[in-house]
Amino acid sequence: MQNSGIEALGLDWRYLAFNVHPDSLADAIRGAQNMHFVGLNLTVPHKQLAVGLVDELDSSAREWGAVNTIRFEGKDANGDWHSLAHPDSDGFLELRSVGYNTDADAVVRACEEDLEIEIASSRILIVGVGGAGRVAALKVAASGCKCLFIVNRTQSKAESVREEIRSRFPGCEVIIGYPEERIDLLINGTSLGLKDGDSLPVDLSRISLLSVGAVYDMIYQPAETPLLRAAKAVGCKVSNGLGMLVYQGAKALEIWSEREAPVAAMRLALEAHIYGNADE
Ligand SMILES: NC(=O)c1ccc[n+]([C@@H]2O[C@H](COP(=O)([O-])OP(=O)(O)OC[C@H]3O[C@@H](n4cnc5c(N)ncnc54)[C@H](OP(=O)(O)O)[C@@H]3O)[C@@H](O)[C@H]2O)c1
Repeated sequence: MQNSGIEALGLDWRYLAFNVHPDSLADAIRGAQNMHFVGLNLTVPHKQLAVGLVDELDSSAREWGAVNTIRFEGKDANGDWHSLAHPDSDGFLELRSVGYNTDADAVVRACEEDLEIEIASSRILIVGVGGAGRVAALKVAASGCKCLFIVNRTQSKAESVREEIRSRFPGCEVIIGYPEERIDLLINGTSLGLKDGDSLPVDLSRISLLSVGAVYDMIYQPAETPLLRAAKAVGCKVSNGLGMLVYQGAKALEIWSEREAPVAAMRLALEAHIYGNADE
């Protein structure tokens, strides 16, 4: 996805994957900076750890308490900071790392663009408030959702997310449990659906998919989970989690390149890689 985006922008860059032990994360970030990398993406289990390891935090990383994107910058003779993609970067003396979070925006963007849902005016149920589901719940509340239902296997986690939303986004009413009336959007943030034979992430004795407008499943492999299949069969709008993955990556590329990301090219590349499209 990133290499296709880089190519579409005509940039002379390469995106590479490195397996780094958490104990070596500080050294890896410092090493990438010293080698004048333009930036990094980080995934589980590095996202929280990196908050304390970068030199500066963008407001997105401060707000969500996690870093999934780092941009390296250098200071010019006037004291201004620039991306290391800047043509004069070889002359920069002082370097620094800046941490961002592009995950939270991506889930809302995916629901709004891929399902044509307006979060602010929607009643939403999120099942599964682990790492990704918690951020989705907070972001949905931050985006103006007035009524949010949350369900999680471990009740204490649902309670802790409810308290966090109540203190940070008091305009959003949060209810633990299934809604009794129609909702606009159901988001699956559990890992149920990843494996063959998984049960549905919702209890159909507590909610009818006929009373759900649209379903977003964060899972993108398989492309159609049992939840999406069941929701489609009764006429819900549905989308899998591929958009979320594309949008967090597109935003990272924009942070590094300071240019608009070629989202369509990145999505096509990802689909070809994950689903093995015929025209790959
Ligand atoms: N599309 C994307 O870009 C993207 C990005 C990140 C994650 N994801 C997907 O989102 C899902 C969650 O990922 P995560 O990183 O948030 O994982 P996580 O932190 O481990 O959270 C897993 C969630 O699933 C629930 N769960 C797991 N097994 C369950 C079961 N048997 N019955 C009921 N609930 C169960 C957990 O409930 P408990 O709290 O009770 O354990 C928790 O709410 C995964 O499917 C992952 O692939 C997609």
